[in-house]
Amino acid sequence: MRRLAERTGVLDVNSTYAYLLWATDFAATSIVADAPATGALLGYITGYHPPARPEVLFVWQVAVDPAAQGRGLGGAMLDALVARVCADRDGGPVTVEATVAPSNSSSRALFGALARRHGVPITEQPRFGADLLDLDGGHEDEPMLRIGPITRHPNNPERRHQ
Ligand SMILES: CC(C)(COP(=O)(O)OP(=O)(O)OC[C@H]1O[C@@H](n2cnc3c(N)ncnc32)[C@H](O)[C@@H]1OP(=O)(O)O)[C@@H](O)C(=O)NCCC(=O)NCCS
Repeated sequence: MRRLAERTGVLDVNSTYAYLLWATDFAATSIVADAPATGALLGYITGYHPPARPEVLFVWQVAVDPAAQGRGLGGAMLDALVARVCADRDGGPVTVEATVAPSNSSSRALFGALARRHGVPITEQPRFGADLLDLDGGHEDEPMLRIGPITRHPNNPERRHQ
């Protein structure tokens, strides 16, 4: 996961230890995608439930290998993760939150498409300012996107989330 974060050239690269914690203690709110033939890691999403707001799935990092981007893998991982978290919460509702820099158009498109697929609103509000992220001015603001609330489709839950 650490190497994949590096390969994106965009994500903050966390320590291997941080990814190990995420892949174990936060596995229920995270997901990975492997290449069927080789088992190579092609993508991952790390997420968690904020302790005071368990109805929220906060998405921390979404990474797709540059060679596999633009083919629907990010959206498919997000749909599978939301479906699993909804099921774990007896059908939801679940609201997805993520902070996304204004210039990250692929990430904004990813979350916009999630909102459209589920027919739910997407809203934006300030979250972490650039001054908190890098004192030297090397980081953009990270406003927060909220998508939801998403519930399992009442008539056809399989089609809605898989
Ligand atoms: C953001 C990211 C995870 C998207 O994954 P992906 O597999 O490429 O995305 P998908 O193919 O599922 O496409 C999702 C949507 O984004 C759009 N999109 C994909 N790449 C795009 C790009 N470079 N620019 C603009 N839109 C883009 C797709 O058209 C699609 O929208 P649509 O359904 O309206 O057509 C991937 O580009 C990535 O890993 N980027 C680097 C890391 C990053 O920025 N992560 C997000 C911040 S945590």
